[in-house]
Amino acid sequence: MIKRPFMTARVFLITAAIVSVASWAVVAAGGAQEGEQMMTSAGVFTVEQADRGKEAYTQDCAACHLDDLLGDGIAPPLLGVPFSFRWSDLSLGDMYAAIRTTMPQGAPASLPPRGYVDIIAYLLHANEYPSGDSELPTDESALQQIIVDEKP
Ligand code: HEC
Repeated sequence: MIKRPFMTARVFLITAAIVSVASWAVVAAGGAQEGEQMMTSAGVFTVEQADRGKEAYTQDCAACHLDDLLGDGIAPPLLGVPFSFRWSDLSLGDMYAAIRTTMPQGAPASLPPRGYVDIIAYLLHANEYPSGDSELPTDESALQQIIVDEKP
């Protein structure tokens, strides 16, 4: 009983030390440390990237999914509830793999990786996720660490 407050303080101090080292490491790595999960609501793309993605989308995707992203009845909508329903809790790595291996329909994997990632930035922007200071990476293992969550 006498020792307990001492132990509690010690555990607290150790925890505080670990937390401060961990948060320092995140800051040092620019928020995208290897093995560190991020959420799409934290702002994981830039507006410039989404703008480039919009151009690529208009050129390579809009023929079927339409300029308003609502789809044509065969190609599904990429906006709103269907978007959340399909991608919530999955990673952008999952999204990247699914799109790259199947789209554009009839010519999968025909865009450079940067093109697909820019289009994902555009889809996030159109779905009202906030932009941030750094672009989405093209590295698939980094994309696996970014999880689609609820918009803030
Ligand atoms: C020729 C028409 C066509 C074009 C062009 C096209 N799509 Fe599709 N897309 C479809 C159809 C049809 C489906 C539904 C069947 C399927 O999933 O293969 C679909 C499905 C999808 C899905 C849902 C896949 C899933 O796993 O849920 C996404 C996301 C998508 N397309 C994104 C894109 C993007 C991004 C582009 C441009 C790079 C694109 N599509 C170009 C016709 C097209």
